[in-house]
Amino acid sequence: MDVLSFTIGEPDFPTPPHVVEAAIEALREGKTKYAPSRGILPLREAISRLYQERGLDFTEKNILITTAKFALYAALQSLVDPGEEVILPDPCWVSYEPMVMMASGRAVKVRLDPLEEFSFLPEKLKEAVNSRTRILILNTPANPTGGVLRREHLKLIADLAVDHDFYVVADETYEKIVYEGEHISIATLPGMEERTITVSSFSKSYSMPGWRVGWVAAPEEHINDILRVQQHTLTCLPPFVQAGALAALEGPQDYLNEMVKAFRRRRDKVVEGLNNMPGVTLRPPHGTFYAFFHYDQPVPSMDLTETLIEKARVALTPGIPPGQWEDRYKAPLGGGIYYSVSNKVH
Ligand SMILES: Cc1ncc(COP(=O)(O)O)c(C=O)c1O
Repeated sequence: MDVLSFTIGEPDFPTPPHVVEAAIEALREGKTKYAPSRGILPLREAISRLYQERGLDFTEKNILITTAKFALYAALQSLVDPGEEVILPDPCWVSYEPMVMMASGRAVKVRLDPLEEFSFLPEKLKEAVNSRTRILILNTPANPTGGVLRREHLKLIADLAVDHDFYVVADETYEKIVYEGEHISIATLPGMEERTITVSSFSKSYSMPGWRVGWVAAPEEHINDILRVQQHTLTCLPPFVQAGALAALEGPQDYLNEMVKAFRRRRDKVVEGLNNMPGVTLRPPHGTFYAFFHYDQPVPSMDLTETLIEKARVALTPGIPPGQWEDRYKAPLGGGIYYSVSNKVH
């Protein structure tokens, strides 16, 4: 039985050829030994320039090259003490909560507002902050909601972080995949440069998920803490992978622009198709290649996704995990539909 799968968050485009060539070239040149644990200097310099362009006072000392997922894990390991609280968006990417648990922290989930780009509900967020709050994990553009937070949403978080002295781990993995509005790094808001650990990735923007390369941008002391986690675990990222990443950043960007245009066309199709179905509402996601729709029937999203596989042979990711459905049904959330691999949705 053929099933159309919309469940995996990876671009279906090949990695740009000049990126592949740069890595092959590096292999041929013998770049097959250990690299510096922080990452190769030209790549760190190129990434620091991205943040300088946004007005941050960052140099290569503020950048560490690692896998985005590992960067989030290492940031939590280095900052969270047992029992400290980490605020998470709800819904959020599946790995945040296990990462908080592995750091012996306590995950505190705060509901998002579908009418406001899936930003935190302000009252719920204020209620969640207390003296044990150590970190808030922010994800914009967001998986799975597709929300792109505006300045006023970020300002609320920044003001709370400054007043209550907690850190923000800003997951900006999807920063290049924006259709409406603009991506804003929370580190650029007043008082935030010193309390934000920004994580980003080559995986989605440059269609390089198998390369396992991304970075952390943060104040030097935090980079040094994360460096220690990296030194005693991964050691470094492969030098030829970093050569490819450098080519991605410094080479032509038209490939990326074309990919985003294609995602946008698919998004429009998905928005139109879903909104034409009885009971289904999807506000157009402003970024990422995910769509998180509301289904206006009392059906747990696990049941809905199972029915869709059986009857329509379409696989979606359930929007609300089993066991957490009843108390949430009243909220305008729904199932999650992931359309990145939708080469079938042309
Ligand atoms: C929100 C979010 N953050 C981080 C990652 C991890 O990115 P990478 O695969 O580059 O480590 C993903 C991957 O799906 C993601 O969706």
